[in-house]
Amino acid sequence: MSRLFNKHIIVAISGGIAAYKSAELVRLLKTAGAQVEVVMTRGAIEFITPLTLQALSGNPVHQHLLDPAAEAGMGHIQLARWADAILVAPCTAQVMARLAQGQADDLLSTLCLATQAPVLLAPAMNQAMWNDPATQANAQLLIERGLTLLGPDVGEQACGDVGPGRMLEPGQLVIELEQIFSSHAWQGRKVVITAGPTREAIDPVRYLSNHSSGKMGYALAQAAVEAGAQVHLISGPTNLPTPIDLQCTQVQSARDMLSACQNACQDADIFIASAAVADYRPAEKAEQKIKKTGAKSGFSLELVQNPDILATIAADFPRLTCVGFAAETQQLVAHAQAKLKRKQVAMIIANDVSEPGIGFNSDENQVCLVTAEGAKQLPRLPKTQLARQLINHIAQLDK
Ligand code: PMT
Repeated sequence: MSRLFNKHIIVAISGGIAAYKSAELVRLLKTAGAQVEVVMTRGAIEFITPLTLQALSGNPVHQHLLDPAAEAGMGHIQLARWADAILVAPCTAQVMARLAQGQADDLLSTLCLATQAPVLLAPAMNQAMWNDPATQANAQLLIERGLTLLGPDVGEQACGDVGPGRMLEPGQLVIELEQIFSSHAWQGRKVVITAGPTREAIDPVRYLSNHSSGKMGYALAQAAVEAGAQVHLISGPTNLPTPIDLQCTQVQSARDMLSACQNACQDADIFIASAAVADYRPAEKAEQKIKKTGAKSGFSLELVQNPDILATIAADFPRLTCVGFAAETQQLVAHAQAKLKRKQVAMIIANDVSEPGIGFNSDENQVCLVTAEGAKQLPRLPKTQLARQLINHIAQLDK
């Protein structure tokens, strides 16, 4: 399966003759399983119609920065946050110049400024324009600022010139784009990740659980795979498809999760506990469904404490780099620092689960990294993007 499967890709098309190749680019990205949104500049629609791109991407094309209909749906900031990567193809000399100046005077340039995702440019222009010192200086500046240039290719141009300035072929752009989702930060490392909730049975039909969807843990598992790790995901019950290229063990209760972790951690290097493990379970599971008794009579359930998986694994495997999460509703950093010490781990990733739109069962999260050295706040991001940043931070601990 392609690394682009399920990735959110914005293809931003500017006004050059190579825009006709962007239709094929979008088609190839869709074939690879990516979700594609297309942005077109005014120049681009002189070369190719939005209808073509809409038909190929399966989504309406975004053309305007301030479009009331779009802002009511997926506005420009949401679009910038949605993206796992933005590929500007073709990227004209004029767009390169505007990006180098940090302008935000149309949708394309605003998205490139507003996004936290990687921005890749596929330059396409006449060879003299590409070789001009102004364009070369802009290219250099954009690379220094962290944008990636793909190409240009050398060859015969639409204007009859021969030289550098041709847009890379769509197939090549797809291969290059796949590369950004496969870093080597964890090449050869064995990583165990817990995700999702646990379910603690009350009787054959009822259980105690919580709102964890598994999205954070699954995103971490996918990002660890992309970083080259051999990943064992130990998951409580979720509705998520299993990420590709990893081993997944499904469990129900905290005690099942602990025993799966103990087996998996024997030869692991890194343990990340993102699961929302139930702290307590019913002292006994009723053999039969518990029946309602009198109309007004209450019902009490005796609970006993579950094992602390993270603390147990950290104590049993002292050479493992252990990272936990902290789901807090107040005093985020203070509680995370207490967990760091109590569980004897290298890092606690703290999230405020009382904040709307982040934490449990949401697509975005905002976390604070707490280590013995201090606390570092990360920006609010989609969990898929945040996971990639977290992998890089954890890789620093694991050196
Ligand atoms: O799954 P999502 O919907 O994407 O939501 C993500 C999340 C909110 C669940 C995730 O970001 C998160 O915060 N996970 C930890 C939830 C939690 O149980 O936090 P805690 O503060 O209660 O536990 C602290 C740490 O100890 C966690 O790493 C937890 O996995 C671990 N723990 C807790 C209890 C226990 N019995 N055993 C454990 O290992």
